Amino acid sequence: MKMDILLGLQWGDEGKGKVVDVLSPSYDVIARFQGGPNAGHTLEFNNIKHILHNIPSGIFRKDTMNIIGNGVVLDPIIFKKEIDSLHKLNVDATRNLLISKKAHLILPSHRILDAASEKSKGAGKIGSTLKGISPTYMDKTGRNGLRIGDITIHFREKYDALVAKHKKLLQIYDFDYDIKETETEWFEAINTLKKFKFIDSEYVINDLLNKGKKILAEGAQGTLLDIDFGSYPFVTSSNTISAGACIGLGVPPSKIGKVIGVFKAYCTRVGSGPFPTELFDDTGDDLRLTGQEFGSTTGRPRRCGWIDLVALRYSIMLNGVTQLVMTKADVLDNFDTIYAATAYKVNGKIIRCLPYQLDKNTIPVYKKIKGWKCKLTDIRRNKDFPKELVNYISFLEKELEVPVHYISVGPDRNQIIKVK
Ligand code: GDP
Ligand code: IMO
Ligand code: MG
Repeated sequence: MKMDILLGLQWGDEGKGKVVDVLSPSYDVIARFQGGPNAGHTLEFNNIKHILHNIPSGIFRKDTMNIIGNGVVLDPIIFKKEIDSLHKLNVDATRNLLISKKAHLILPSHRILDAASEKSKGAGKIGSTLKGISPTYMDKTGRNGLRIGDITIHFREKYDALVAKHKKLLQIYDFDYDIKETETEWFEAINTLKKFKFIDSEYVINDLLNKGKKILAEGAQGTLLDIDFGSYPFVTSSNTISAGACIGLGVPPSKIGKVIGVFKAYCTRVGSGPFPTELFDDTGDDLRLTGQEFGSTTGRPRRCGWIDLVALRYSIMLNGVTQLVMTKADVLDNFDTIYAATAYKVNGKIIRCLPYQLDKNTIPVYKKIKGWKCKLTDIRRNKDFPKELVNYISFLEKELEVPVHYISVGPDRNQIIKVK
């Protein structure tokens, strides 16, 4: 059996959590392969709205096993809060959640380092979620990190040594901090973590695949936030693309099956960095309000703009996307005209590739598409789609050269239509 991958094709928040939740009954395992609690994946069903940060989006399905893979960085404090709020919904995650021994731990001092680094950058800040993601991955690649598996072996000693290093590092910043209180909370949260099974997830996952079990790897962030291929330095610190699922779970490339790419019918970005199709006018405000574009993790307003097909083609190429899911089509219900960037104009030249540097000279070239001007949220069959939406989907498929398999028309689990 091959492992499928689902990931975001834009700058995150494409609706990955919702789509994973919808697809999870067809999978035995949902496995997160990178990122950490910078992610906010929203699930809505039975009038419940739930946001997951460290935990995979299959957690509400009793028969689905969930795995936090080695590529993830995990914050025990946020993890404990997630476990507690799942408890309130009568979900006991100890039943169906396993954690890789090789996943890295986010320490309180990683969060302080993140905040200190952002403050020191002033106007040039990345707009990080301040969850300690970058310092934790720095310690991973710098070979200093603490892993889940360390919790059971001379843990306090290793913790103290790493924090001492962080305190030295913090001296280069003009930054006040108090670690004591968070440290107490962190060690309490480690006790919650200990209730879970720590596993050699690469063995578990490969064994399950060999036994014919179906696994879906769940991406966090989006392709344009990838550490190598995103809009560097305004990116996150992990490989968000499909290759990241091989690294982040220990699955060889020869065992990858479908690659499901999720994108919004328009585009958003939270944090700093270039965004060629961003709208600074009433239309941008309309998208933000109708789409409720406020960060699931930080509550920050998301920047909004038209769909960018140059960026999407790039994402599809990098990930080897085999099928697409378009979310938030309903957000465009009231628009007379929809715009889609099919190319960029850079110094008077038309280009269809993403340039090394995206800046104010990267001018989107738009194609206008007639809007459908009707309510999509109650539609459940594609034969009830307005013809303008059908046209929009065919236009996208022609431009992107990959079939669209699902259209999402609202946040709820039921508001999705299989079109292929
Ligand atoms: P993720 O990080 O990719 O999982 O996405 P987020 O959960 O951060 O952001 C997506 C937001 O859009 C959430 O509030 C979802 O509930 C919501 N959402 C998902 N699909 C749809 C849709 O088709 N229509 C509308 N209106 N909202 C949606
Ligand atoms: P999900 O999984 C949207 C952005 C931050 C910032 C940059 C770096 O919900 O789609 P970091 O905290 O990783 O150092 O921040 O990346 N960012 C996200 N934007 N969705 C996310 O996750 C994000 N995770 C990080 O806003 O610009
Ligand atoms: Mg999100």
